[in-house]
Amino acid sequence: MLVIAHRGASAVAPENTLLAMQMAINMGVDGIEIDVHEVEDEHLVIHDRWLHRTTQVRGRLTDFSLARLRELDAGQGQRIPTLWEVMQEVRGQCSLNIELKGVTHVIPILRLLDKAVQELGFDYSQLLLSSFNHHLLFEIKQIRPELLTGALTASCPLDYAAFAHTLQAFSIHIYLDFVNPAFVADAKDKGLQVYVYTVDEVEDMDMLRAWGVDGIFTNMPDRAIAHLRQPVV
Ligand code: G3P
Ligand code: MG
Repeated sequence: MLVIAHRGASAVAPENTLLAMQMAINMGVDGIEIDVHEVEDEHLVIHDRWLHRTTQVRGRLTDFSLARLRELDAGQGQRIPTLWEVMQEVRGQCSLNIELKGVTHVIPILRLLDKAVQELGFDYSQLLLSSFNHHLLFEIKQIRPELLTGALTASCPLDYAAFAHTLQAFSIHIYLDFVNPAFVADAKDKGLQVYVYTVDEVEDMDMLRAWGVDGIFTNMPDRAIAHLRQPVV
């Protein structure tokens, strides 16, 4: 089961910062998940919706200029990084799951993916674009059908994994509270990878592994790796 750091190693470093990425890489993760927002229509920055999650400033990230955001301390002396800075940090070390949150334009993201492949040595298979906004994922697939997408859900739909199959997604990313064996079986039947968020407790890791889940997003990659990579007796 893959271990994907949720917002980096966010239990020990400020989430969505380069320090959180470095710590996750040092722990030996398979991948890192980050949240992306557009600022001033063109800049792609990594943070949750609300600035006060990491900084001393209250407000919505997208109401600030890039210049102002870059002045803020996101904790432990960290700055709010751009997507490009994260790609530079992660290159060659693990895969990157870019969760599109406050994003309305797909072209700038697609251009950056191409640049990461050309200039940083990423393989397209190491770059996964996910979103709760399935319209955005549909648009991406229409423009670039070969790119990997991950369909997010915080529910267990009546027709299980059908929505992700329709989207021709690579993976389905489902909230821990709503995943169950029937859902996993349906997704696997449809050829989808199943990743579950956010999983920090070892009992849940064992349960999900037994159900055939392919990966977890965790705030505690060190705990997950220590638990999941020990020999099964
Ligand atoms: O991508 C998995 C997970 O991060 C989705 O929810 O709110 O933690 O970004 P959230
Ligand atoms: Mg996320």
